[in-house]
Amino acid sequence: MSLLQVENLSIAFGGVKAVDGVSFSVEPGEVFTIVGPNGAGKSTIFNLISRLYEASSGQIIFDGQDITHRPAHDVARLGIARTFQNIELFDHSTVLQNLLIGRHSRRGTHWWEDLLFLPKVRRSEREHRRIVEEVIDFLELAAYRDKLIAGLPYGVRKVVEIARALASQPRLILLDEPASGLSVEETQNMAWWIEDMQKDLGLSVLMVEHDMSLVSRVSDRVLAVAEGKPLALGTAAEVQAHAKVIEAYLGTEAAS
Ligand SMILES: Nc1ncnc2c1ncn2[C@@H]1O[C@H](COP(=O)(O)OP(=O)(O)OP(=O)(O)O)[C@@H](O)[C@H]1O
Ligand SMILES: [Mg+2]
Repeated sequence: MSLLQVENLSIAFGGVKAVDGVSFSVEPGEVFTIVGPNGAGKSTIFNLISRLYEASSGQIIFDGQDITHRPAHDVARLGIARTFQNIELFDHSTVLQNLLIGRHSRRGTHWWEDLLFLPKVRRSEREHRRIVEEVIDFLELAAYRDKLIAGLPYGVRKVVEIARALASQPRLILLDEPASGLSVEETQNMAWWIEDMQKDLGLSVLMVEHDMSLVSRVSDRVLAVAEGKPLALGTAAEVQAHAKVIEAYLGTEAAS
């Protein structure tokens, strides 16, 4: 069974169909990438899956459950985490604090238990810390754990955002342009992190990315979209060679 199944998903803003009948599925342990020109609707697909936006039609099934209309916090609790195209971290908190916030969807205690600091709360605090420290080790962020986000280089902040997502122990992670703004060397490292998430953590990865060398390297399958519509699905090489995809990127004239 697919981990994620997106069926005929659509949303319009005013008259603009930002996503228009998109279907695909992500298998367990797969790196699945969505590519397409600017404004194609890629981030909007992520916003629909993570339930920031309400689909006007279609269906989203995660691990056999229909999440099309479930609230965002439910979707996070079920095991979907994401990063944002424009990094969204608390700038005036440390790396550690940001990751503890990333554990929020996993809180198993009530506010009144927290207030009384019951043994259950102490146990759960220890557990949150342990998982967060594991993530810090995994992404080699130990040198930055007590540093404020605001003072960190951009490339490190991109990794911290992934760490925040991993802290919620997802089964599916949505990465919106993980390599945007990164140097060649940082992009190389990003490819390693993605491969490690897939191989060592057994995660499924749904990625949006423009850097085709990264896409070719890490993706099992690629879906190209343009103007909200699906164009081609296959390996990175197949999709890049597809006439409709070339046309969408270069314009009809150049493709012919
Ligand atoms: N909240 C919104 N309100 C109105 N229009 C929106 C909204 N979100 C997205 N859109 C529009 O939907 C279309 C798709 O946008 P989206 O951000 O999904 O593109 P994208 O493929 O992620 O592009 P990029 O590669 O530049 O990030 C665009 O025309 C955009 O202006
Ligand atoms: Mg986008």
